[in-house]
Amino acid sequence: MSQSLTIPRPDDWHLHLRDGAVLRAVLPETARHFARAIIMPNLVPPVVTAADARAYRDRIMAALPEGMDFTPLMTLYLTEDTDPADVARAHAEGLITAVKLYPAGATTNSASGVRDFDRVRGVLEAMAEAGCPLCVHGEVTDPEIDIFDREAVFIDRVLDPLRRATPGLRVIMEHITTRNGVDYVKANDAGLGGTITTHHLIINRNHLLVGGIKPHYYCLPVAKREEHRQALRAAATSGDARFFLGTDSAPHTDPNKESACGCAGCFTATNTLPLLAHVFEEERALDRLEGFASSHGPGFYGLPVNARTLTLVKSDTPTQFPDKIDTGDGPVTVFDPGFPVYWSVAG
Ligand code: NCD
Ligand code: ZN
Repeated sequence: MSQSLTIPRPDDWHLHLRDGAVLRAVLPETARHFARAIIMPNLVPPVVTAADARAYRDRIMAALPEGMDFTPLMTLYLTEDTDPADVARAHAEGLITAVKLYPAGATTNSASGVRDFDRVRGVLEAMAEAGCPLCVHGEVTDPEIDIFDREAVFIDRVLDPLRRATPGLRVIMEHITTRNGVDYVKANDAGLGGTITTHHLIINRNHLLVGGIKPHYYCLPVAKREEHRQALRAAATSGDARFFLGTDSAPHTDPNKESACGCAGCFTATNTLPLLAHVFEEERALDRLEGFASSHGPGFYGLPVNARTLTLVKSDTPTQFPDKIDTGDGPVTVFDPGFPVYWSVAG
């Protein structure tokens, strides 16, 4: 007996596409299922000006295979030198959809991020005025703070003061990994959203560390203990419009992951939607997948829900996903949930 679910085409509200050979290899994996995605600007060097964003958008569109319909929603990487007028202009022109805040040193390619939050106050005020949202990587970088506590401490030390200092700024707390993140989003108004990744709904820190270290489960923010995964599952499947999908699909080639100092990032673009159908079915919330993957995000960003649809089907035999995606720079391993998944995307 096959079962199916048709939803408006989903969007990915946090995606890493990289550049060059990796961009060309991973872009079809997203464009096959998603209509739009918020494109992370943490290239080397980062996408910091409107001119950088325009050039990167052109490279993405040039890499899109014929016949695929996909719109990249560009972001700028906030630095202490960002010009408020450049941001406001790029947003008004529709060139950028959001600005990304990385605390300096928090994650992959974040060296140009913010150290002194007072130095970006003018940009944040211009964004609040222009209605341009801020996407936030919510982890402190203080070496004294345990890596498993960095999100919770960030809320108290940085995020809450920043939001109070800039009323009216719309903020997305991205890839939340803790009950603290869920509770903070719930305790605020609709001006604060929270994205949740596919992998954080599936793995906890045991998956990463028990029985041998699993480099392909290492990402930032790092997976936390089981009670936090349960809180994320409850939030994602709750129907609360402040929570929506941002996969944080972050390709690194195998040699860079399977190393003495492996890169952070899980690559989930290929199988995210079947995995989400599996998770939402487990939580008896299949009817809420549409909100999480297709309508809450557009609602937050003030964009229309996609008119095209996507159909997920469940069959009696497990779906075979590719183990790896080949790129001109080497293979990228596809996230393995560690259990059989019977859902797939039709067509
Ligand atoms: C991301 C990357 O590889 O660019 N890695 C990750 O683990 N999520 C950076 C990020 O979003 O933190
Ligand atoms: Zn990311």
